[in-house]
Amino acid sequence: MAEPDVQIRAMLEPDLLGYKALRDAMLARHPDAFTSDAETEGLRDIASYRSRLTGGATLFTLVALDDAHLVGALTCEREPRRKVQHIAHLIGMMVADSHRGRGIGRALLVAGIERLQATPGLAQVTLSVTAGNRAAVGLYESQGFVRYGCLPDAVRLPDGRRLDKALMFRRLDG
Ligand SMILES: CC(C)(COP(=O)(O)OP(=O)(O)OC[C@H]1O[C@@H](n2cnc3c(N)ncnc32)[C@H](O)[C@@H]1OP(=O)(O)O)[C@@H](O)C(=O)NCCC(=O)NCCS
Repeated sequence: MAEPDVQIRAMLEPDLLGYKALRDAMLARHPDAFTSDAETEGLRDIASYRSRLTGGATLFTLVALDDAHLVGALTCEREPRRKVQHIAHLIGMMVADSHRGRGIGRALLVAGIERLQATPGLAQVTLSVTAGNRAAVGLYESQGFVRYGCLPDAVRLPDGRRLDKALMFRRLDG
C-alpha cells in the first residue's frame, strides 16, 4: 500500500476542537465499533479532552492531519499502578470515513507502536475490538497483535444487539 498523504503527529491543545468533531461523528456513525455512546460523549466540552494530551495516564494521542484537517486519531494510555507499568493500552482508533482504506489507520498504528517501543519500561500493549469488526481486526493483526481472549456480551446496543469484544495484545520487544 502507498504511504498516506497525511501528517501523523502528537495531538496538541489546538487540535482538540477537530478531535471532538471527528470523535463525535465516528461514535454516531459506528456505534458498534466503540464502547462510548455518541449521545453522552456529544455533551462533553472540548476541555475534557485535555486528558488525552500527553501527561497523566495518557502517554500520547496521535492525530492524522490532511491539510490541517484532523482525519484520524489513536490514543495510548498506561496505568499509574507500579505492577502494571509495563503494559500500555490502545484506545480510540479512528479514521474518518472519507479517508478510509488509504493506509492512515496503519500509519497511526505503526507510529504508535514505534513510540511505545521507545518508551522505557514498556513490554506489551493491549486493545479490545468488537469481534466482528473485520477492518480493525485485520489492521491489528497486520501489525502483530494476537487475540488472547474474548469477552462475550461486552457491549449492548440500543437496538438490542449484544456484541463480543476480542481482546488482543502485542509484545513490544519484537
Ligand atoms: C478500522 C480503521 C481505523 C482502519 O483504518 P483505515 O485507514 O481505513 O485502514 P488502512 O487503510 O490503514 O488499512 C490497513 C489494514 O487494515 C486492514 N483493513 C482495513 N480495512 C479493511 C477492511 N475493510 N476489511 C478487512 N481489512 C481491512 C487491512 O489489513 C489493511 O491492510 P491492506 O490494505 O494492506 O490489506 C477505520 O476503518 C475506522 O476508523 N473504522 C471505524 C472505527 C473503528 O472501527 N475503529 C476501531 C475501534 S477498535
